[in-house]
Order: sequence, then structure tokens, then C-alpha cells
Amino acid sequence: MRDDHAHRRLLDRIREDRLVTRRDYLRLLATVSGGLLAGTAAVASGIFRRRGSGTTTEKKVADSVEPGDSFTFDYPGEDDPAIGVRLADGSIVAYSSVCTHLACAVLWIKEKNELECPCHDGIFNVRTGEVEAGPPPRPLPRIALEERPDGIYAVGVIE
Ligand code: FES
Repeated sequence: MRDDHAHRRLLDRIREDRLVTRRDYLRLLATVSGGLLAGTAAVASGIFRRRGSGTTTEKKVADSVEPGDSFTFDYPGEDDPAIGVRLADGSIVAYSSVCTHLACAVLWIKEKNELECPCHDGIFNVRTGEVEAGPPPRPLPRIALEERPDGIYAVGVIE
């Protein structure tokens, strides 16, 4: 009699465990599905867009700059730091100043005529933005500039 009662309680507990497991499984499934749905919606709305990709917005970024000097600005967004340099031949180049390695700020070193990332000694070619030394895996994204009578304008990001 006592064993029968204990046996029945054990069976009840096993049934409850199964229900809980099934309920937990459904809860987990709903959570994962909701997460996937939210992630898909975030990607579709552009929350995870790469900084500065594909813009053609025009923005005045400097009044003027002398050969060998640099200027900094934000482009295409307010949180997209960039650097421009007027080369000795008079041409002007500009790049994102976010290092493609671990996102340190890239600096213009006039004496060496190069763009340098001080964090891990990354060096970028000032004419092309290509990596010349160090760990950066990609060149710096280039920003197209136009010189106009009233100043220097950023007119797009060249991918
Ligand atoms: S963050 Fe620029 S070289 Fe590492």
C-alpha cells in the first residue's frame, strides 16, 4: 500500500517534469524566434549599417588648407571622424580616421608624410589609404572631396 502510494507520487512527478520540460522548450522556442525576428527587423532598418557606407550627402568640411597640413571633420555622420590632407602637389585627399584594425584614431604625421595609427603602429598610404605597415586588415575608406570657391566639401564615401 505504502509502496503503491510512493510509486504513484513518483509517476506524478515524472509527468510534471515532462510538462515543465515541454513548457520550457516552448518558452525557449518563443524567445529564440522573437530574438531572430527582432534581429532581422534591426538589420532591415539599418541599425547595424557600416559607418559611412554609401552616402552622397554634401557637407562643407574646411575653408582652406595649406600643402602638408591636415584638417579633421565628421563625415558622413556626426559620429564618423575623418581626416583630410593637402598633399605637396596641391591635391587634397580625405579618409575615415577610424583605423580598420581596432578603431583607434588615425593621425597625419607631416614629417613622415604618412597616416599613422599609434595604437599598433599601423601605417596607411596618404595617397591611396592602402595599408603600408602594421596589423590593419583593410585600407581606410576614402572620402571624395570637391574644392569650391567658398571651401572644401565632402561629397561622398568611395567604397
Ligand atoms: S588600432 Fe590601428 S593599428 Fe591597431
